[in-house]
Amino acid sequence: MPALIDTFTMSNGLHIPGIGFGTWQIPDGAAAYDATRAALDAGYRHIDTARAYGNEASVGRAIKDSGVPRDEVFVTTKCPAEVKTADGARHAFAESERLLDVGPIDLYLIHAPWPWNAIGSDHRAGNIEVWKVFEELYDAGRTRSIGVSNFDVDDLESLAADTDVVPHANQIRWFIGNTQDETTAYCRERDILVEGYSPLATGGLLENEAIRAIGERYGKSVAQVAIRYLLEKDVLPLPKSTTPSRIAENADVDFTLSAEDIATLDALEDTDA
Ligand SMILES: NC(=O)c1ccc[n+]([C@@H]2O[C@H](COP(=O)([O-])OP(=O)(O)OC[C@H]3O[C@@H](n4cnc5c(N)ncnc54)[C@H](OP(=O)(O)O)[C@@H]3O)[C@@H](O)[C@H]2O)c1
Repeated sequence: MPALIDTFTMSNGLHIPGIGFGTWQIPDGAAAYDATRAALDAGYRHIDTARAYGNEASVGRAIKDSGVPRDEVFVTTKCPAEVKTADGARHAFAESERLLDVGPIDLYLIHAPWPWNAIGSDHRAGNIEVWKVFEELYDAGRTRSIGVSNFDVDDLESLAADTDVVPHANQIRWFIGNTQDETTAYCRERDILVEGYSPLATGGLLENEAIRAIGERYGKSVAQVAIRYLLEKDVLPLPKSTTPSRIAENADVDFTLSAEDIATLDALEDTDA
């Protein structure tokens, strides 16, 4: 089955298509609508958005207009990183639900353990409060799975200490040279799906000569090798593009990297640090 629609299975049995289309930094309106339509036309069946991206209305409209049955599209959105209260989480979810207007959400994530203007600050109690609302939303069927994003091992441990449902997924920044080994291993042990965001390092990998040289052996681009690398590591890639040809290119990753090439990629330093 093509990587695009082959699925990962989350701990609750829910299937999630193997490549998600990222929508960060795509403005609401025609840009987000057209990009989402292009992704669905190219065969993507998994769209990643967030309340903070401001584009849920256009993403939702594109899904509804696409003609693809709703139950064939997996939709992720996120509770803003700044929201750390139960009331705030209930309100944020209702807003996302209203703006997307596609029925139940497939995956709802805490966007980050801390507000973006205070990275690393301690919000353990707030995250637990928010997670309890996530558990209610999950029990009520308003979202089919729940997870977190940008959580490290300590963040996951403190959540686990005071809550019932283990996150179904953790969406983290993951690309060649930035493989988050400790968090990834922890998630594997607990059957938490690892989703890799910025698989191209937000463009930072695209001029990498070592990756280009490997790609040439397979007739593949740097972007395709970078995305394939995540799949070889059982990490679900979330590439973003607003360019239809690149959207299609990023989905065309049905090739296998040799063990030797994977070892070369494993040894590359973080070029984006
Ligand atoms: N949870 C979080 O905190 C978080 C944070 C960041 C990202 N994310 C998710 O992960 C998604 C992807 O991450 P990202 O947006 O940082 O970037 P990315 O997918 O790593 O890279 C996107 C950049 O690469 C370019 N590009 C894409 N495909 C290309 C290709 N085949 N050839 C050449 N250039 C190409 C894009 O340009 P064009 O668009 O101009 O084509 C864009 O500039 C986001 O959209 C979002 O859904 C989540």
